[in-house]
Amino acid sequence: MARITASVYTSHVPAIGAAIDMGKTTEDYWKPVFAGYDFSKAWIKAQKPDVIFLVYNDHATAFSLELIPTFALGTAAQFTPADEGYGPRPVPMVHGHPELASHIAQSVIQDDFDLTLVNKMDVDHGLTVPLSLMFGQPEAWPCKVIPFAVNVVQYPVPSGRRCFMLGQAIRKAIESFDEDLNVQIWGTGGMSHQLQGARAGLINAAWDNRFLDRLIDDPATLSQVTHIEYVREAGSEGIELVMWLIARGAMADIAGGAKPTVRHRFFHVPASNTAVGHLILENN
Ligand code: DHB
Ligand code: FE
Repeated sequence: MARITASVYTSHVPAIGAAIDMGKTTEDYWKPVFAGYDFSKAWIKAQKPDVIFLVYNDHATAFSLELIPTFALGTAAQFTPADEGYGPRPVPMVHGHPELASHIAQSVIQDDFDLTLVNKMDVDHGLTVPLSLMFGQPEAWPCKVIPFAVNVVQYPVPSGRRCFMLGQAIRKAIESFDEDLNVQIWGTGGMSHQLQGARAGLINAAWDNRFLDRLIDDPATLSQVTHIEYVREAGSEGIELVMWLIARGAMADIAGGAKPTVRHRFFHVPASNTAVGHLILENN
């Protein structure tokens, strides 16, 4: 059967992607950011996941205000990196896993979560920057990726509580797929940042680190945090953090299994307008 072996959490700051693409990773500003991923790159090489279920948000790239799916599951065989205005990033095509994605759709929709199925979709920095941070600059991404886009841009956005419950349904779906697959689930976006308005530039390192503590030790209570707390404490774009609760909800301990091992934890300020947070949890 397919098994979820680990979850990975990381920010997706677009300037990080640009720094990688333009060969700036060793510059003084960027060096400490990328140092936080040295362990992760070696770790994932050894882990060799077959599939990554990658929870991210689209930034009005694939979906405009004309169409706003709350939860969109990528069921296609491949996904093209998007042109976000400066030209598409020079990163490989993303290859999906239509059979596993279809199985997840069947299971999760029958478990009463109304997903939107997307058979054609471009993927923006929300998805490609986490891949670059973990895999560097390969010729081809070393595994399949199922994109799962969450609306955290246009209100109303889903609650942390619903995201946490959805993660549990995704776990049940993946672990009932009848093929031996090493699957990771990633929760991306965040941490505290605000890109607009009077509080633009807001970063709350203390709240972010408490979020990491709570995500590790008490995700059920963390899932009760309201939108207003995310926006007040972590800024308007800090709401991206609800996506981390989907990945956390898919870990074994939430289904009555053993607590995960914290394999890696990293936090750094700043990267562009954003606090960068990164966590790796392994199932036991
Ligand atoms: C920045 C962060 C984001 O999450 C994003 O989607 C765009 C920009 C930033 O920090 O500049
Ligand atoms: Fe973003």
